[in-house]
Amino acid sequence: MIKLAPSILSADLWRLGEQIRMVEEGGAHLIHVDVMDGSFVPNISLGIPLVKSLKGKTKLPLDVHLMVSDPEFYAPRFVEAGADVVTFHVEATPHVNRVIQYVKQLKARVGVVLNPSTSLSVLDYVLEDVDMVLLMSVNPGFGGQKFISSSLRKIEALRNMVDKRGLSVDIEVDGGIGPTNIRDVVKAGANVIVAGSAIFSASEPRERVRLLIKLAEEAWAERAAVRS
Ligand code: DX5
Ligand code: ZN
Repeated sequence: MIKLAPSILSADLWRLGEQIRMVEEGGAHLIHVDVMDGSFVPNISLGIPLVKSLKGKTKLPLDVHLMVSDPEFYAPRFVEAGADVVTFHVEATPHVNRVIQYVKQLKARVGVVLNPSTSLSVLDYVLEDVDMVLLMSVNPGFGGQKFISSSLRKIEALRNMVDKRGLSVDIEVDGGIGPTNIRDVVKAGANVIVAGSAIFSASEPRERVRLLIKLAEEAWAERAAVRS
């Protein structure tokens, strides 16, 4: 199933509650929370207090994307704060399997994130252990960047890998996605789509969410038709 995850990094934090309501009303499936520590990426964003305060206020699951240098320490803390899904970068730790275990022990969903230049080969021995793989289609750190086009063949290759192994791992893609390219991303095989500026910079975020879901669902159906 296709899911849309609006990234609140691009929301107006002064009106955050209202903006989350809008995307809920538009039919969004997850709330994507971008956590940046000023060390793994050159920016500082949202953190544990925000996740705690969102928990229970929105009915949507919190999809927490950790762009931090020490996921072993922080991943469990974000689950305790209320994250439903935690994703962390494979580039940030030599102990990928350990972080996966920590999150699973706390009964949350877990995913690994790959930067645009990181090879899919890092997934060889962890793909069976995760609920989700997040492919970055921009260099992490900022919203509003341009989609890196080589991401499309990376999504296709990951979709093949997941299907060949008979897994039901979600493929999430994050960065530079909007109405003009969401179809390509879904047709390549992604089923969880993050969008920040394309939603919150729109004059009507609610309508923009509806449009993105419609385009994504159409592309997913076309993809299924071609393959059957
Ligand atoms: C980038 C973040 C993204 C970003 C997406 O480091 O992980 O989630 O906010 O924003 P857009 O959709 O504007 O590229
Ligand atoms: Zn993100």
